[in-house]
Amino acid sequence: MSTTEEAAGGYDYDRRLSELKAFDDTKAGVKGLVDAGVTTVPTIFRHHRQDGPQVSSSSSSSCNTISVIPVIDLSAASAEDAAAREEVVAQVKAAAETVGFFQLVNHGVPGELLSEMLASVRRFNEEAPETKRAYYTRDARRKLRFNSNFDLFQSPAANWRDTLFCEAAPEPPRAEELPPAVRHVMLEYSGAAREVAARVLALLSEALGLGPGHLAGMGCADGLSLVCNYYPPCPEPDLTLGCSAHSDPSFLTLLLQDEHAQGGLQALLASEWVDVPPVPGALLVNVGDLLQLVSNGRFRSVEHRVVANRSRDTARVSVACFFNADIARSTRLYGPIAELITSGDGAGRALYRSVTVPEFLAHYDKKGLDGRPALHHFQLLQ
Ligand code: OGA
Ligand code: NI
Repeated sequence: MSTTEEAAGGYDYDRRLSELKAFDDTKAGVKGLVDAGVTTVPTIFRHHRQDGPQVSSSSSSSCNTISVIPVIDLSAASAEDAAAREEVVAQVKAAAETVGFFQLVNHGVPGELLSEMLASVRRFNEEAPETKRAYYTRDARRKLRFNSNFDLFQSPAANWRDTLFCEAAPEPPRAEELPPAVRHVMLEYSGAAREVAARVLALLSEALGLGPGHLAGMGCADGLSLVCNYYPPCPEPDLTLGCSAHSDPSFLTLLLQDEHAQGGLQALLASEWVDVPPVPGALLVNVGDLLQLVSNGRFRSVEHRVVANRSRDTARVSVACFFNADIARSTRLYGPIAELITSGDGAGRALYRSVTVPEFLAHYDKKGLDGRPALHHFQLLQ
């Protein structure tokens, strides 16, 4: 556990573990600390410089980011106009091959559903601690889980956020299992997100030179995990992060961000942290690790992080939809798609070994967000 000791600046492992346990046992998350009036960031949340590029200085790049993350109009991809669809496929291809992110507009999900989804997550997190405590668990068999830091006991430093998880597909929880604050909207939102993901996967398949049904036919979006993040205001935002640098353990992620004045999401592009501010009404799409793997490295799963919330009084909320195979049951081996090994950039060789989704996720979870890409573990030595 030397990384833990290093990250904690030498204070000992037993003490850190007991502080992590004490925090976890409150079942009140980071919001509980903030409500208790903490004015400093407890040691377990303190990140050290070796965690990656500087924690602070997020705003210097914000003026040039609008052009870095492309905005793609999904309504232009309707099948009737073949030339317009070709153009959208080309935009999706360029984005997936370079920055790995794009902002999707005119995606068909009503604005009221987006805002109600965000509002419900805020409501849940702002309920009385007793109400939330009933849902607090690390038991992965539960389809609905509330906790703070899924990797609390694995990662070198904890993050300033709380999370509500819902395994929404292929078998959603029963409505009664959902907290009342989110019950009326969560499954409706996940249905809408699945429709968007299906359309995006078709475009990505075409962008790889495959038939439109190829990626969906591989089961890449059979499963959906909804990850609802709540980032409370942080008293010392330069000492911690909202979310450590990571790439996503999915094929595809759709992120809904609220219009928090400070934003907070950043992508690592050309070794620089670049702000990815919310575009009103848009869904942010990004390539996950498993899509990078099956595309044999053509599409990029780009590292990103969330800086700690600098606001004095307003939490930031986001909802990430992780599309994946059926994570509980999938036994299929995913490796680079044959057509992509024998032609183009793959230059005749597979860059990754094949892996089942449960094996990939077990590696990702065991590792925690430690700043190292999970995909490295599955790379074939050339
Ligand atoms: C994630 C993630 C970003 C955000 O949950 O994987 O990157 O803005 N979230 O919450
Ligand atoms: Ni992410």
